[in-house]
Amino acid sequence: MSSEGPGLTFVVQPGGQLSGTLRVPGDKSISHRAVMLGSLAEGVSEVTGFLTGEDCLCTMKAFQAMGVRIEQLGPTHLRVHGVGLHGLKAPTGPLDLGNSGTSMRLMSGLMAAQGFETTLIGDSSLSKRPMRRIVDPLRTMGAVIATTEKGTSPLTFSPAAGLNAISYDSPVASAQVKSGILLAGLYATGRTIVTEPEPSRDHTERMLRGFGVEVDAKPGYAAVQGGQSLKATNIEVPADISSATFPMVAAAIVPGSDITLTAVGINPTRTGIIDILRSMGATITLTHERLLGGEPVADLRVQGAQLQGIEIGGDVVASAIDEFPAVFVAAACATGVTVVTGAEELRVKESDRIAAMCDGLTALGVSAIARPDGAVITGRGTAAPIGSGTVDSKGDHRIAMSFAVAALRASGAITILDCANVNTSFPGFVGLMAGAGLKIAEQQAS
Ligand code: S3P
Repeated sequence: MSSEGPGLTFVVQPGGQLSGTLRVPGDKSISHRAVMLGSLAEGVSEVTGFLTGEDCLCTMKAFQAMGVRIEQLGPTHLRVHGVGLHGLKAPTGPLDLGNSGTSMRLMSGLMAAQGFETTLIGDSSLSKRPMRRIVDPLRTMGAVIATTEKGTSPLTFSPAAGLNAISYDSPVASAQVKSGILLAGLYATGRTIVTEPEPSRDHTERMLRGFGVEVDAKPGYAAVQGGQSLKATNIEVPADISSATFPMVAAAIVPGSDITLTAVGINPTRTGIIDILRSMGATITLTHERLLGGEPVADLRVQGAQLQGIEIGGDVVASAIDEFPAVFVAAACATGVTVVTGAEELRVKESDRIAAMCDGLTALGVSAIARPDGAVITGRGTAAPIGSGTVDSKGDHRIAMSFAVAALRASGAITILDCANVNTSFPGFVGLMAGAGLKIAEQQAS
């Protein structure tokens, strides 16, 4: 499903600055959940602002393969004909979830509870990602799941005799794990509780409430009673703050840049990037704060500055977990040293993001020393702190977009290999960023 191989290259010329008003595509986390919960609801739900990136399309196709009728009424407008909690049908073959960890871990919770066998598969990156973190607690609930010896996908779910609620103290702050367990909890006997070391994003809890489910939630804690049904509702998906991060960092690292990003989700479990960039010296102003589909949104104005290095760790890590590749670029452009700690989860994302960023920055002449749980990056803070050259995105969308943004402060062109997976989360990235002032072009390998 996802695009593998070095096929697409970005070539980004140095310099430029960002300006204008942009709307980035819909939130990936919320779009996945809208399809899943809409499918399990009783009645018809409409989703607007849906992210038609490859990851969310994998989720959509998987539910269609289980008998859910999903109409695409417009480029980002879906109508989901819910089948109810017990209405999914056995698919005719394995469900291919491409590059999408969110699809695999959340759907694990649902597949564990079905009366038919299902196999979940993914691309080469997803097939290497750790699944025991979700499989083990689901097995404790009674699920019957086969994995590879390494605890990776393919995951095969066999019908279980019924699931029992658990109280699970998760060792990782992971919304994917928490959500997978809560979704299984909808089918379980009793009350399922998940606690976690730091609060992870709470979109599942919020959206379940939108579908009429009673959820008890506070930071680091969520609980749901089994047996509740979902009532169809309409969901408006905010712009994704994780995608907005790329124009935000692009503007922040170039003094004189000034951009506004509209209707960006500012759920407090996701706003670490705003705190980090402000601490580094960028000016970020929030206006038109409002609620969209149960989620807070705002327009974000970002004005660039010469950034300063900072220490980043602790509770901000979970709320900016997908933003670190771009933060590493901001650190490279800052004056002084940036130290990132407590971010070992970056090693098990679509790529090992600590290694991918440190390797790439080193290739571009920046001192970026990897540590097991983060990195030490010595910013050069000069006119062109980043050198030119070729870097490998390792097929990771966020690595590719981060190095594209780095070219704004580079001494020469940056060529980025293996960029096709940008379409998993940010279709239209090249056009949107080029329109705002990034000198980016695509090259397709022949
Ligand atoms: C996501 C949770 C995060 C994040 C991912 C999306 C979600 O993963 O990195 O891109 O939608 O729940 P973890 O929960 O594993 O940290």
